[in-house]
Amino acid sequence: MTAASGGTWWRARRDALLACFGTREAAYVYDLATVRAQVAAFRVLRSLTQVLYALKANPHPEILRAVHAAGCGFECVSRAEVERVLAEVPGVGREQLLFTPNFAPRAEYAWALERGLRVTVDNLSILRNWPSLFGGREIFLRLDVSSGHGHHEKVRTGGLHSKFGMPPEEFADLPGAVAAAGARVIGLHAHGGSGNFDLAGWLGPARVLAAEAVRHAGVRILNLGGGIGIPEDAGQAPVDLRALEAALAGVKAVHPALDLWMEPGRYFVAEAGVLLARVTQTKGKGDKRYVGIATGMNSLIRPALYGARHEIVNLTRIDEPAIQSCTVVGPICESGDELGRDLRLPRCEEGDVLLIADAGAYGHAMSSHYNLRAPAPELVMPA
Ligand code: LLP
Repeated sequence: MTAASGGTWWRARRDALLACFGTREAAYVYDLATVRAQVAAFRVLRSLTQVLYALKANPHPEILRAVHAAGCGFECVSRAEVERVLAEVPGVGREQLLFTPNFAPRAEYAWALERGLRVTVDNLSILRNWPSLFGGREIFLRLDVSSGHGHHEKVRTGGLHSKFGMPPEEFADLPGAVAAAGARVIGLHAHGGSGNFDLAGWLGPARVLAAEAVRHAGVRILNLGGGIGIPEDAGQAPVDLRALEAALAGVKAVHPALDLWMEPGRYFVAEAGVLLARVTQTKGKGDKRYVGIATGMNSLIRPALYGARHEIVNLTRIDEPAIQSCTVVGPICESGDELGRDLRLPRCEEGDVLLIADAGAYGHAMSSHYNLRAPAPELVMPA
């Protein structure tokens, strides 16, 4: 709804979208023009010297190539994500990758460090226990500098009750542990959560990281993480990137020697993806009306897991009046298998195509084969 490309691409390109979907029962469809527009919009943050795409949001190869062509590097959280980038993005340089594992096994760190990848360390005890891995390496340290933020408690990655980052009481011990391991810290990192709209969520950490940088002689980068929210409801204001840039420029003015980086995932891809699925059956139960579609939480778990709200329209009858209040459900054997609750929709008939919007981030990437039902396959809109 707020896509930088202006309006919703899927409304403007409805016929092409239905043609691309064809006779399928369900599919994710991605619009690369919207991905490019979102990356371009992010360029208003001129104070950033590096933008990494957090591919956990959507690692589709064509999306990786599009964001790389637009100048982004990659933030990876697993060996498989690193391998995906190296295999699918021709010409990507290792310096464009940052590996930020959390509670990963030692072998995964060893694998990455031996290949010269930059690794973000978020646990003091691995520096102490595995010093031989880090000797001679340039690393980032992930500091837990805020109470965290996000659209749901499960995506808040700051604060005592989250497993990420190193807590303030360890900050003073870090230079000694880094020196003992023979590593060099080139950057400090903080990511407080996902789906944030409040600029303070980046600025507070930026100030604390800048202050902590004084402890580490070689630090030249502050990585402020991702987390840029996408409006869920009509009327909800998007993140004001111009105001964020003004604030980042303020940080930069005070600390000109420090480069600022960010690593968004959702912002680049959420609005570029839709989940299409055909109506299978409808049911009335008391005062409830259910509209069943061909896929459910096996394709998109966000509503069930976070209570996330995604706009849903009947694409087949996009111009018909909304005459009913209904809950859209999938075929999975859990009552949590709801894609949207109490929505206003036009009449829905078997075979109609429903569209679930803003599903490009953490949609297919979090899908499963629960009930042995294959998740919706992925398609890319023809240009
Ligand atoms: N950097 C780090 C270290 C992260 O942990 C994350 C997301 C990002 C960057 C990218 O955050 P984004 O810009 O996409 O908000 N499955 C959840 C979101 C989980 C985010 C995990 N970390 C959802 O569907 O809302």
